[in-house]
Amino acid sequence: MFSLFNFQLPQPLLNVLIGVTLFRLVKYLFNTIKRTLSLPVGPWGLPIVGYLPFLGDHVYLQFDQLSKKFGPVYCLKLGSFDVVLVCDWPHLKDATSNDALLARPYETLVPGSERSFAEMSGDPWRQHKRLSLHILRDVGLGKNKIETLIKEEIDQFLTTLNTDGKPVDFSQKIGPSISNNIAILLFGHKYDYNDPVKIEMDRARASFTRLFKFAGILTFLPWLTKVLILLGKFDVHLIKKNFMIVDEFVQDEVNRHRENYNENHEVVDYIDGYLEERKNREKQNIPEDTFTLNTLKRNAAAFFGAGSETVYSTMEWAILYLVKYPEYQEKIRSEIADVIGFERKPDYADRARMPFTMAFIHEVQRIESIIANNLLRRASEDTKIGNHFIPKDTLVMFNFWSVNHDPNLWPNPDKFDPTRYLTEDGTKAVKPPYLIPFSAGKRNCPGEGLANVELFLYLVCMVQRYRIKVEPGTEISFEAVFGISRRPANLPLFIFEKVVH
Ligand code: HEM
Repeated sequence: MFSLFNFQLPQPLLNVLIGVTLFRLVKYLFNTIKRTLSLPVGPWGLPIVGYLPFLGDHVYLQFDQLSKKFGPVYCLKLGSFDVVLVCDWPHLKDATSNDALLARPYETLVPGSERSFAEMSGDPWRQHKRLSLHILRDVGLGKNKIETLIKEEIDQFLTTLNTDGKPVDFSQKIGPSISNNIAILLFGHKYDYNDPVKIEMDRARASFTRLFKFAGILTFLPWLTKVLILLGKFDVHLIKKNFMIVDEFVQDEVNRHRENYNENHEVVDYIDGYLEERKNREKQNIPEDTFTLNTLKRNAAAFFGAGSETVYSTMEWAILYLVKYPEYQEKIRSEIADVIGFERKPDYADRARMPFTMAFIHEVQRIESIIANNLLRRASEDTKIGNHFIPKDTLVMFNFWSVNHDPNLWPNPDKFDPTRYLTEDGTKAVKPPYLIPFSAGKRNCPGEGLANVELFLYLVCMVQRYRIKVEPGTEISFEAVFGISRRPANLPLFIFEKVVH
């Protein structure tokens, strides 16, 4: 009988095989060493896991510390990936305007999931971003319509703060209200604050983004993540579970839209617009390509997630600063008195005459750096950041935190000081080019316009209607938790006292 163990290769063939294997190994080692030497220098890590075990919860602080030792551009080995950190403004400015740094990693955010456009690279990303912005503009983002819708939502939100002086859990109120604004654009309707499906979805989304760690195993050891998911390991399993809940929620919306879809129906939201694009492609015999129903679901989920958490995290920080510095709250209220009064509802256009209010928002965004690191980028070809060579496929992370706390750009950077943006006569707030909470360049945040309207209107409407306080003796902590965004770790209960005038 034929046995594998008795099988012997002829000696010349064996020699060739050994030769080829050795050649490949040497070539691989040579290329790896060449590549490593060409990268910016950085700290050593351990085999296989690299620097990962040395990273704590607030990675942006460690990245900042490392930049003091290795310079503003350095390389970390994280798992099997080379990650270049960019930690000062001149290099960040250079990197955000470099077209070779627009791609995302090959892996998706959650390994094994389908790709949303926020995880795509090259032409597919460009096409989906163009289409997405086009639809969102058509259904309200680019018009006064979104401002009107936000104002209606704020009216409803403000009534939930009216508790006759009883302390209010602000996160519980602001979260569902903010996510309603993006829900209208994506799904064509808002949700009742008490809708159990929406409550579960908001919970799952918040939990996903809190558990998700940019510099964790999920991102940098995807093979280990797959094993851990199979083994049902707690955190990773929970991330995946919450991710699936959001996905299923959006899938239900897509199904509902498909059932009601007909070609003569007016496009009123993102899902409608995407279905119409698919229909047009079909009619013109254009291949489906990446314009699949799965991508539609993932795009809508990405917009929903990115468009909710970031804005309400900013509002949570803003309210902390309003109570920590009552004098700034009064200053905003006195601008409201001068420009809007207490009868008329605020318009977004009022911001032009409210420099202190705008300066307050800029300062919250700077000091708390809600998105402390951007979503990872990937070099799509060999390129440079400043004088540093960045080989193809290197991952690149921007540490916005470092730029926002650079004492050369911001005197006394740890001090909350809105006046730093005001012109000498106090009539204008000037946002310097190095304050980029929404990132910059071609891959900047597509929700910047929406977020700016929301932040201004929610803040001004709250301060116009209520004097915001905490119970005497309440400790106000600025400790943060960090997942995808930075959020306050312990928000106290707030008291909303009607402004009498
Ligand atoms: C204060 C609020 C917000 C902040 C601070 C913020 C910040 C950011 C940042 C820093 C990025 C990464 C860009 C990069 O890779 O360089 C980003 C991406 C993104 N944001 Fe926002 N964002 C906010 C609100 C929103 C809103 C309201 C939406 C939805 C309309 C949104 C949707 C997105 C999407 C889809 C991406 C991925 C874009 C891509 O990969 O091309 N964001 N955001």
